[in-house]
Amino acid sequence: MSSILLIRNADIVNADERIKADILCEDGVIRKIAPDLTSPEGATVIDAAGRLVFPGFIDPHVHIYLPFMGTFSKDDWASGSKAALMGGTTTLIEMCCPGRADDPLEAIHLWKSKAAGISSCDYSFHMGVTRFDDESRDALRAIVEHEGIGSFKVFLAYKGAFGIDDTELYRTLSLSAELGVVVTAHCENAELVAETQKKLIAEGKTGPEWHEPSRPVSVEAEGCHHLVTFAGLTGAEVYVVHTSNRDAVQILNSARGKGIKVSIETVAPYLVFDNTYAEKPDFEGAKYVMSPPIRAKEHQNYLWDALAEGIIDTVATDHAPFDFQTQKHMGHPDPAKCVDAGFQPTGKAGNFTLIPNGIPSVEERVKLLFSHGVATGRIDLGTFVRTASTRAAEIFGLYPKKGVIAVGSDADLVIWDPEWKGVIAAKTHSMATDYSAFEGWEVTGRPETVTVRGKVMVHGGEWCGSTGWGEFLARKPGA
Ligand code: URP
Ligand code: ZN
Ligand code: ZN
Repeated sequence: MSSILLIRNADIVNADERIKADILCEDGVIRKIAPDLTSPEGATVIDAAGRLVFPGFIDPHVHIYLPFMGTFSKDDWASGSKAALMGGTTTLIEMCCPGRADDPLEAIHLWKSKAAGISSCDYSFHMGVTRFDDESRDALRAIVEHEGIGSFKVFLAYKGAFGIDDTELYRTLSLSAELGVVVTAHCENAELVAETQKKLIAEGKTGPEWHEPSRPVSVEAEGCHHLVTFAGLTGAEVYVVHTSNRDAVQILNSARGKGIKVSIETVAPYLVFDNTYAEKPDFEGAKYVMSPPIRAKEHQNYLWDALAEGIIDTVATDHAPFDFQTQKHMGHPDPAKCVDAGFQPTGKAGNFTLIPNGIPSVEERVKLLFSHGVATGRIDLGTFVRTASTRAAEIFGLYPKKGVIAVGSDADLVIWDPEWKGVIAAKTHSMATDYSAFEGWEVTGRPETVTVRGKVMVHGGEWCGSTGWGEFLARKPGA
């Protein structure tokens, strides 16, 4: 039996147009967009009068299953995808991050198995290249050809864990250019991070506030320069994840002028926090430790301007959730409060290099971008939709199935109440972490109704979805 959904009186906002019409969806796909459509028998009808209707939002950079820094990220696909949908995000692209010794094919199968049958939203993966040799090259070819993966991920940071060396980087980018695969990249100079960390710790600078000085703006800027140099020589298309500052963005943007194919992502935390958050007392600063670190206010202001000017392509989250009371305490400088990976007291002083990096934010990205961007007039509605949905679909080969409200596209719709006011709190969020980095923050606007391929998952701001409704999105390189 076919499922029919009719959205009446929709004020449709795409990246480059705004139209008033009804939207008729059948079997998960948008079939008609026109005023005053006749309601077919058996249709579910939702009146969107007074609301905005956006294409489902896409978060192209999340970690749901992540073995990292001696622990595992807190969400699973049930909680992570529910949180995404409660926040209006209908598609997630997760980083598959195998260890250096792991088999890439086994890794992508493992990452897929964590989401299959559990995810409520649609999903895809970037394949992490954490080692490059003859064996992994063959595996990567097979993954692109047979596993529906159209993008890679490399880390220039995390020396000794996910990081690759320059020969591996050159070979990965050469293979990507040949296959037409986009390479997403974490750009920080790993050696500079390692040496600066050692120096600060030797000076007794061990609290969370020293995380930013250990990986300053110049270290990220060098990583970006490094990547675009390699991209220029190999012809690879690159996408720089979580760009945190002006210097990095300017390097990447000027590479475009030299014909290098580069897209730029920033993430929600950089748009709303500044480096003073990591200075909060009682180790609260650990909640704001992520890499690259959160920067000074001037960089935050620059990122907003670069978004408004179309220099930055996407706003993701880099959702990487770790509990505060246990996991973040693995780096507590007080011997009485520092815990090991089993969360038992170590009796030894920890330091900021042991704090699992990441901020849980998949649920709040779209609300924050609307509240701090659209409602304050920093960005317009077109930029909001483009950076939180459409550009990610275009760059990663999902457009026009995703990222736009158009006939033939998936019926992933977000009916948005722009006047709604609410307060973010860990006790009401759907993420699995014991804290919210945005605790007590007021937000304007929320996703009132959210659909994934025509199925209503959130209604009246309440969860009504089904675990397992999400589908894997197979992507082709060069799409
Ligand atoms: O702090 C971060 N960014 N944690 C997640 C891993 C990564 O680098 O993306
Ligand atoms: Zn990263
Ligand atoms: Zn990440």
